[in-house]
Amino acid sequence: MSANAFSRLPHPRPTAEDVRAAAIADPVFGRIFTDHMVSIRYTEGKGWHDAQVMPRGPLTLDPATAVLHYAQEIFEGLKAYRLDDGAMALFRVEANAARFNASARRMAMAELPEELFIAAVKEIVAADADWFPQVDGGALYLRPFMYASEVFLGVKPAAEYHFLVIASPVGNYFKSGAPAISLWVSDDYTRAAPGGTGAAKCGGNYAASLIAQQEAIAKGHDQVVFLDAAEHRWIEELGGMNMFFVFDDGSIVTPPLTGTILPGITRDAIMTLARDEGLTVREERYAIDQWQADAESGRLTESFACGTAAVVTPVGKVTRHDASFTIGAGGPGQVTAKLKNRLVDIQRGRAADPYGWVT
Ligand code: COI
Repeated sequence: MSANAFSRLPHPRPTAEDVRAAAIADPVFGRIFTDHMVSIRYTEGKGWHDAQVMPRGPLTLDPATAVLHYAQEIFEGLKAYRLDDGAMALFRVEANAARFNASARRMAMAELPEELFIAAVKEIVAADADWFPQVDGGALYLRPFMYASEVFLGVKPAAEYHFLVIASPVGNYFKSGAPAISLWVSDDYTRAAPGGTGAAKCGGNYAASLIAQQEAIAKGHDQVVFLDAAEHRWIEELGGMNMFFVFDDGSIVTPPLTGTILPGITRDAIMTLARDEGLTVREERYAIDQWQADAESGRLTESFACGTAAVVTPVGKVTRHDASFTIGAGGPGQVTAKLKNRLVDIQRGRAADPYGWVT
């Protein structure tokens, strides 16, 4: 064999540009991340310091870092949208900043000045503007979060925190792309109890929900429905979304904010939009048995889940134990579609924003 007989194989690893191009062409929720992250540190007695926009990369944690032991961690989820004129928009970022601090208070963590939260979010959107997905319904999902970074095993609120924002190009939250989702009602597990952390957006709430969500998936459903902890009777929320129920008399119902469910920003926007559409909105408890009875009698015509990630997602079928019931015709209903379109049109700058929601 001669010395110049080597064949050249292409480099097998995708380049950073290959990853970006694939992610914006076919974004999967929360799988691929942009190039940057924002990082700000907090130290008791010193306050917030060392704000940086930096290359996204792994964190190095001492094994005794407090979050790894006592789970002092909170997060937010919001989306940046590219408007038709090419500008970038955020939806109700002030509400995320306020909720972040409400979560911080519940978890005895340092509060981040709201203007710093908003500035951090704007920084990452500006840094990673070329990561906007090119698909219909695509957005840049932003995940601000904070963990207890003090290296100490004493059980007490940490004296040091690390706040970060990362970003991921996303499309639909539900992979199936089905027109309506199927729900499994969990009787064995509850998500939150009165006096607990249910209203805080802390990682622990999601950790507690995973076994029930796993059960729902194993039984062929998309999401789990949690009932209240005391009576196992009242509908609370799904694994990461609020619920709405639509009735034939022009009213809609959503469970009230009693401290055990997340005060969703999309939930709040939907209530405002529904009132402006002439619907009667009631925040009241709704029992699981009543849901089935109303769906079967036709009094309940539609149900939908909502959240930043899920936007507005119609519910088609509900299963509890071995029995199932269908909502309406099992697909998206008219009220759900109308509210979703109103919301999305405002978020994407296709309709006027009389509420001042878009930045
Ligand atoms: C969001 O909607 O942003 C959430 O944080 C919920 C999670 C299921 C992704």
